[in-house]
Amino acid sequence: MNTSPRFRYYTATTLDGYLADENDSLDWLLTQPIDDDGAMNYGAFISEVGCVVMGATTYRWLLDHEVVDGKPWPYDMPCFVFTHRDPTPVAESIRIVSGTPGEHHSTLVDAAAGKDIWIVGGGDLAAQFAEAGLLDEVLVSIAPVTLGAGRPLFPRRFDLELQTVERNRAFVCARYRVVGPREPAR
Ligand SMILES: NC(=O)c1ccc[n+]([C@@H]2O[C@H](COP(=O)([O-])OP(=O)(O)OC[C@H]3O[C@@H](n4cnc5c(N)ncnc54)[C@H](OP(=O)(O)O)[C@@H]3O)[C@@H](O)[C@H]2O)c1
Repeated sequence: MNTSPRFRYYTATTLDGYLADENDSLDWLLTQPIDDDGAMNYGAFISEVGCVVMGATTYRWLLDHEVVDGKPWPYDMPCFVFTHRDPTPVAESIRIVSGTPGEHHSTLVDAAAGKDIWIVGGGDLAAQFAEAGLLDEVLVSIAPVTLGAGRPLFPRRFDLELQTVERNRAFVCARYRVVGPREPAR
């Protein structure tokens, strides 16, 4: 267990920086070859996670694509869904919240019980955590695909510092430290 939990944005992205296409499809991702035991693999990552955070669109995608055909909600740990609406949680571990990341910081840390906090996405929510100084790392698996448009990895400017780079079959797996918001060019 970590003494200081990390807030980590772990996701796959296209080479041109999209999480999903304009219709929220992940077809570009799900067709890629990946080694489940390789670099930056999900199993190793999730074993260090104590709390999951996501936006409403990502939650909806999971309900439509993962929680189907009798399959259960995929996360055992507490999950916080940010939305201004009032969806019915499909598991007892899900909490519906709204407001700024700062307002929920101590609740998320307590919920993670010494483990990491996974910011699942999307990009705007991850950006809100980064702007609040509450995002430590970005871990991206970059697929050899461009989409030209879609849901951005980050919709605003940030500086990051590259920490590690590895390969997992089709993917470049990179881990960055978040430096902070980047001033617009003059
Ligand atoms: N490539 C990957 O591995 C990966 C990872 C994650 C997600 N995805 C996909 O990428 C897409 C993400 O879409 P997205 O970036 O547009 O959406 P998103 O972050 O999942 O959801 C956006 C919504 O979250 C709510 N929200 C955000 N900040 C909030 C706040 N501070 N307080 C209250 N509510 C807040 C708002 O919902 P309301 O309108 O309900 O208020 C907003 O419309 C989805 O298709 C998802 O499945 C892909």
